[in-house]
Amino acid sequence: LLPDLDTYRSEAPSNIALVKYWGKYGEQLPKNASISYTLKNCKTQTEVILKKRIEADDQFHYEVFLDRELKSSFKPKIDKFLKRIEVYVPFLKSFQFEIHTKNTFPHSSGIASSASGMAALAKCFVVMQASVQPELTETFQAQKASFLARLGSGSACRSTGGKLVVWGKHKDIEGSSGFYGIDYPYEVHNNFRNFRDSILLIDEGEKQVSSSLGHDLMHGHPFAEQRFEQADSNLTKLKPILAQGNFDEFFALVESEALSLHAMMMTSSPYFILMQPNTLQVINKIWEFRKSEEVPVGFTLDAGANVHILYPESSETKVRVFIEDHLLQFCQGEKVIHDQIQF
Ligand code: PMV
Repeated sequence: LLPDLDTYRSEAPSNIALVKYWGKYGEQLPKNASISYTLKNCKTQTEVILKKRIEADDQFHYEVFLDRELKSSFKPKIDKFLKRIEVYVPFLKSFQFEIHTKNTFPHSSGIASSASGMAALAKCFVVMQASVQPELTETFQAQKASFLARLGSGSACRSTGGKLVVWGKHKDIEGSSGFYGIDYPYEVHNNFRNFRDSILLIDEGEKQVSSSLGHDLMHGHPFAEQRFEQADSNLTKLKPILAQGNFDEFFALVESEALSLHAMMMTSSPYFILMQPNTLQVINKIWEFRKSEEVPVGFTLDAGANVHILYPESSETKVRVFIEDHLLQFCQGEKVIHDQIQF
């Protein structure tokens, strides 16, 4: 049974990890479990248009467009993805297709679009499959979307659904798996249910180190095993923090995770410093502000120079004024994206 020649649409948000994934093995399986908040405003919207196939060969025939513009530079990553998922989505070579994608955030902003992009594309393929197999349950579809997204970009499996998502087998998280993300299954205090993430764009350029190279550098890394243990133990520690609502403990853990991720890159061979001087300026300003004003606020980082400022809704007014007055000067073009997590 083949899906109709039609347009299939889906969308997926970006996510920001609290406990970071860095290091993988086998077919995109994580060396440690990670957990992330799902964002609301930063997302990718994707359409896949299925067309009649002319070629009789054994290749994928498709084009990718970003904002209606042909983007052949995306193809190597998508080719790899399609090859990995071919066995799970067997009808892809029966068509010729176009992938049209757009992001609600600026593409070259340095915000990783691979998580939301791969998640949205994976969801489109599941929508197609469900069109011919309507008996597939919602749960099956959600799990399959996450499973496929993982094969595009590991962290993408945390972007196909849910608000606080765990990926990677962990002894203290029931139902957790390396194959797909799951909704965090335990109590989350109200303090952490209505959170804000203001993303300061420190460096808008292309990423200096691709995440695939970064993950590879964990093979033979002198601190790899300690890092995987640290991440798993941080997830264990996060459980009571999330249940009890303690901001100080939360930010101490989340900030340490961000700095540990960067420490891995500084101590790999070859080594990289992904922070910029302004990243450090911002971090120091946040620490001063938190101490002097006693406002619950903290930061996290991805594998780049941008800073994610995390805070509860109750600190929003104060933190927004602080960002405007003291941090915008460190951002490229004074750019900041205000996003949120709500559940
Ligand atoms: O999904 P990837 O392969 O692009 O890895 C991204 C990993 C980090 O964003 C740095 C951390 C994480 O857990 O999201």
